[in-house]
Amino acid sequence: MATLLGGIRHIPDQLDRPAQEQLVEQIRAVVAEAPLYVPELPGTGKPMSVRMTNCGSLGWVTDRQHGYRYQPHHPVTGKPWPPIPPELLDLWERFAAYPKPPEACLVNFYADDARMSLHQDRDELDLDAPVLSISLGNTCLFRVGGLKRNDPTGSFRLSSGDIVVIGGEGRLAFHGVDRIYPATSTLLKNGGRINLTLRRVNP
Ligand code: SIN
Ligand code: FE2
Repeated sequence: MATLLGGIRHIPDQLDRPAQEQLVEQIRAVVAEAPLYVPELPGTGKPMSVRMTNCGSLGWVTDRQHGYRYQPHHPVTGKPWPPIPPELLDLWERFAAYPKPPEACLVNFYADDARMSLHQDRDELDLDAPVLSISLGNTCLFRVGGLKRNDPTGSFRLSSGDIVVIGGEGRLAFHGVDRIYPATSTLLKNGGRINLTLRRVNP
């Protein structure tokens, strides 16, 4: 593939199986309090195929009327998001190397037929902080390009326990998930993939 922009790093195999299982347990607890919901694209209201929730003082949400944004409460229950588990804060310390803690952890759940089209993460006011991504469950094909939508892209697989750092020069790189490879992991009993992204929102 084309070389990755500076600041984008794929770090495979960072979480061993027990650490992955522990994270899944913690995400289950988050989901019990803040249920996965179906996000809608701004304007059209078209449902995304990925289901979402968050933990942290802020969560990233989208719906037809108000579009992409961060807010302190769940869009369906109206309750504050549950806190970010300490293990995820530790991963931020290790891999983000950023002085301020993350405010949001977006939890994306991909059924085996879900995907995410090419986009930039640019709803954060602090673009000096990287986005830290953690993959759990089935392998996906991750696509990443440049700072313009039409720049050439390349793709690679993300497996359970892999980490991606999207920062520096590549902080606003276009990226997406082309597909999930079913039955490539035994971590999630009913298949699918979980992606966690830790984000610093405010400078
Ligand atoms: C995202 O861009 O929000 C998700 C990336 C991923 O699922 O790996
Ligand atoms: Fe993203």
